[in-house]
This record gives sequence, C-alpha cells and structure tokens, in this order.
Amino acid sequence: MSTFNLKVGAAVGALVLAAILVPTFERPPVETTQGGFRGTSMGTVVNPRLRATTVAANQVPEAPEAADNDGDRASTLYQNVQLLGDLSNAQFLRIMQTMTEWVVPQEVRDAGNGCAYCHNIENMASDEVYTKVVSRRMLQMVRTINNDWVPHFGGTEGAGVTCYTCHRGQPVPSAVWSAPVLPQHGLQAQTGQNRVSPAAGLSSMPVDPFTPYLLRDTNIRVISQTSLPRYNTTSIQQTEGTYALMMHMSSSLGVNCTFCHNSRSFSAWESSPPARASAWHGIRMVREINVNYITPLQPLWAANPNGPPEAGPRVARLGPAGDALMVNCSTCHRGLNKPLNGAPMLQDYPELRAISGGPARSAALVPQ
Ligand code: HEC
Ligand code: HEC
Ligand code: HEC
Ligand code: HEC
Repeated sequence: MSTFNLKVGAAVGALVLAAILVPTFERPPVETTQGGFRGTSMGTVVNPRLRATTVAANQVPEAPEAADNDGDRASTLYQNVQLLGDLSNAQFLRIMQTMTEWVVPQEVRDAGNGCAYCHNIENMASDEVYTKVVSRRMLQMVRTINNDWVPHFGGTEGAGVTCYTCHRGQPVPSAVWSAPVLPQHGLQAQTGQNRVSPAAGLSSMPVDPFTPYLLRDTNIRVISQTSLPRYNTTSIQQTEGTYALMMHMSSSLGVNCTFCHNSRSFSAWESSPPARASAWHGIRMVREINVNYITPLQPLWAANPNGPPEAGPRVARLGPAGDALMVNCSTCHRGLNKPLNGAPMLQDYPELRAISGGPARSAALVPQ
C-alpha cells in the first residue's frame, strides 16, 4: 500500500473514530432515579455534570423585602390602574420595580430608564407606550396561568409563574418559537420535513411541531386501540408530528420518554406516571397562552418592530412569517422538569395573586 493510501486510511479512520466518540456519548457516571414500578425500566437518567450547568443557569433573583398592605388602595391613588387596584401603594410600587427588573433590558435599567420602558415618564397614567398595554395583558395571562392551570403544576402546593419564569430579565423571552417559512415547492413544502429540526431534537422530523399542537388543536393520539387496527386512519406523517412534539417536550424538560410513559404502551394512561397528566394539561395551557394572549397582541409588535422609545439592544419581535413569538414548553422549563428547579418564586410576590379578574377597561388592545 502506498503512503498516500495509508495517510488517507488513517485520516478516514480518525474521522470515523471522532464521529463515534465526539457527539453521541456523555461521559459516565450518570444518575438514574426509578420512576415507575420495579422492573418497568422507567428510570430517569440524569448526567449530574450537565445538570449542574443547567441548574446554575436557572437561578431566581433575590426578592426585595415584602411590602406592607396598609393604607389607601392603588385604585384611589392613581388615575389609570385597571388590574392592580387592590394593592397598597407600597405593594404597587414594589411590583413596578420587580417588573422592571424581570422584563426591561439590563442596558436600559443601568442607564436609569427602567420605568420609561413602559411609561411616558411625564404622564405615568398614559397608555401611549405599547409595552404598558402589553404588560397589562401579560398580567392577566399570569393570573390565568396561576389560577386556572393548577392541574399543570404536578401537585406542588403554591406553584405558579411570575414574569421572570419566561422573561429572565429580557423583553423578549429567549426560548420562543414562530412558524418557519418553508419552500414553496418540493418535498419540504409537502411534508415540512427533510430538514434538520432543532425543535425536534435535531432529527428530520417535522420542522414545525408547534403550529399543529401548541397553537391549533390537532389530535396527538395516533396509536390504535385494538390489536387489528382496521379503523385507525392515522398516517405516518401524523405519527411523525406526534413524535416531533414528544422530542420537544422531552428536551425542554431535560427528561427521557419514560418520565411520562411506560414504554410497554405509550398510549395507556393507567400505566403512565402522573407527570404525563401534568404534561397533558401543559399542552392545553400553552395553547390558551398562544391563542388568547400572545397572538392577539401581534399588531402591537407589528406596529413597533424596534420596541419602545427606550428599547435597548435590537431584538426581533416577530417571526419570519410575521407572526408573534410564541410560547412552548421551553419558554418556562429551559431543560428542567420543574422551571427554575422548583424554586417557589411566586410565594415572594403576593402582588401577582391580587391581579383583578375583570376585563381591563382598554378593551381595545390595540389603540386605534
Ligand atoms: C414592564 C412594564 C412596566 C414597567 C417597566 C413599569 N411599569 Fe408602571 N405600570 C405598568 C402597567 C401595566 C401599569 C397599569 C397597571 C394596571 O392597570 O393595573 C402601570 C402603572 C403605573 C402607575 C400608575 C399610574 C396612574 O396614574 O395610573 C405608576 C405610578 C407606575 N406604573 C409606576 C412605575 C414606576 C415607578 C416604574 C419604574 C420603577 C414602573 N412603573 C415601571 C407597567 C410597567
Ligand atoms: C408564559 C410566558 C410569559 C410570561 C409569564 C410573561 N410573558 Fe411577557 N412576553 C412573552 C412572550 C413570548 C413575549 C414576546 C412576544 C413577541 O415579541 O412576539 C412577551 C413580550 C412581553 C413584552 C413586550 C416587550 C417588547 O419589547 O416588545 C412585555 C412588556 C412583557 N412581555 C411584559 C410581561 C410582564 C410584565 C409579565 C408579568 C406580569 C410577563 N410579560 C409575563 C411571554 C411571557
Ligand atoms: C412530559 C411528559 C411526556 C414526555 C417526556 C413524553 N411524552 Fe409522549 N405523551 C405525553 C402526553 C401528555 C401524551 C398525550 C397527549 C394528548 O392526548 O394530548 C403523549 C402521547 C404520546 C403518544 C401518542 C399515544 C397515543 O395514544 O396515540 C406517543 C406515541 C408518545 N407520546 C411517544 C413519546 C415518545 C417516543 C417520547 C420520548 C421521545 C415521549 N412520548 C415523551 C407526555 C409525554
Ligand atoms: C408558563 C410556564 C410553563 C409552561 C409554558 C409549561 N410549564 Fe410545565 N410547569 C410549570 C410550573 C410552574 C410547574 C410546577 C413546578 C414545581 O412543581 O415547582 C410545571 C410542572 C410541569 C410538570 C411536572 C413536573 C414534575 O416533576 O412533576 C410537567 C410534566 C410539565 N410541567 C410539563 C410541561 C410541558 C410538556 C409543557 C409544554 C407543553 C409545559 N410543561 C409548559 C410551568 C410551565
């Protein structure tokens, strides 16, 4: 064999070895926690080193000192308070301060312009800055999540979300999705597949597992319920859609399929652990968030693509197809089965439990 061939051989060998060693394995040891009954292989496998990094990236900022509830109500002190009117002045200003820290970009806060991200400082009662109108709707959304979606929280007493659960100190949460723009012709146009999809765990499953399931109400159940499935008309494409969604759910929570399923039957609820019921409610909760809260605000972002006057760094507020940036499991979970590693953050903000349920007076979300 010539040296040339030897060199080529060695190079190919090295490449093959690298391909095997580099991306596919995580260095042991890993930790396994038993989930289901003995012998059902329903262990949750966690790499403690990767987990430590994820946990470190999901810390809760320290809460300011609690505000007392005495004195006149905000509704009587201010002119245009539609949702937080039941708070005392101290509580009202405390929540304004924390909303600033949760949502306004660091640069704008550092320049001392935090309140101006949502307010005309000359006239705090005015609704002219669109981010204030958005925030009112976001407050109502937080109320809905914390009051109506308790079944999602897996039985954790007092669990819930704050603005920080999604925003993490940024005006546009970093884990969001929007519909991709697919080619007009060819296989990708027909199937929405054959392109590596980060959403579906870097597989070539459907590139958009979100529009059908987390915006529309497409059926997720695909498995036949009888041994001779004569009446199951589900296509392979629908099955792949379900699979892509499941990949997203697993990676968002940092778990494998057996966190929610006994692989003996992916369909049967009797043998599924309670986490699957949490997830079932989660899918419906996310749909409600996207349909009732995020999508209707789209015109405000379309009218303000560069953000409010005190905008800070440029960020996109709409997707490539012009839709709003929507919520999926990652927006809150960020690689952990309990967002923020289960920190009971909401407990430090009783103000968010006092958001009024009545319709906000500015019923027209988009000022005409
Ligand atoms: C993320 C957006 C946002 C930020 C930042 C913000 N606010 Fe507000 N602010 C609102 C919303 C929304 C309302 C209306 C609440 C309601 O209708 O119940 C409001 C109302 C007010 C009002 C009542 C005005 C009136 O007369 O009706 C005051 C006062 C106020 N904010 C002070 C502040 C201060 C001080 C800061 C900075 C520390 C601040 N806000 C930062 C969203 C924001
Ligand atoms: C369930 C997740 C979620 C929660 C909780 C949440 N938001 Fe949002 N918020 C979003 C998403 C997603 C966007 C971006 C939509 C877009 O840009 O198309 C957004 C955008 C905003 C914007 C517009 C920012 C800009 O520069 O255009 C403001 C202001 C805002 N949220 C305030 C709040 C406040 C205040 C709270 C708490 C009361 C809150 N949000 C809670 C998901 C959330
Ligand atoms: C966080 C919980 C969770 C994880 C993780 C999860 N699933 Fe699911 N899965 C569900 C829920 C909930 C449903 C039912 C959804 C519905 O009916 O709306 C479901 C449905 C399914 C179905 C359809 C069952 C039927 O009756 O047709 C299949 C197949 C499935 N999952 C496979 C998987 C695979 C494969 C994985 C791992 C890649 C996975 N799931 C990870 C919660 C989960
Ligand atoms: C608005 C924020 C938010 C979104 C979006 C969200 N979750 Fe959750 N989820 C939570 C909170 C908060 C908890 C309760 C955590 C705790 O116990 O501290 C939770 C709990 C869970 C649990 C129970 C975890 C356990 O260890 O028992 C599962 C499973 C789950 N979520 C799945 C999902 C899935 C699947 C999606 C997407 C379809 C989703 N979640 C979207 C906030 C969210």
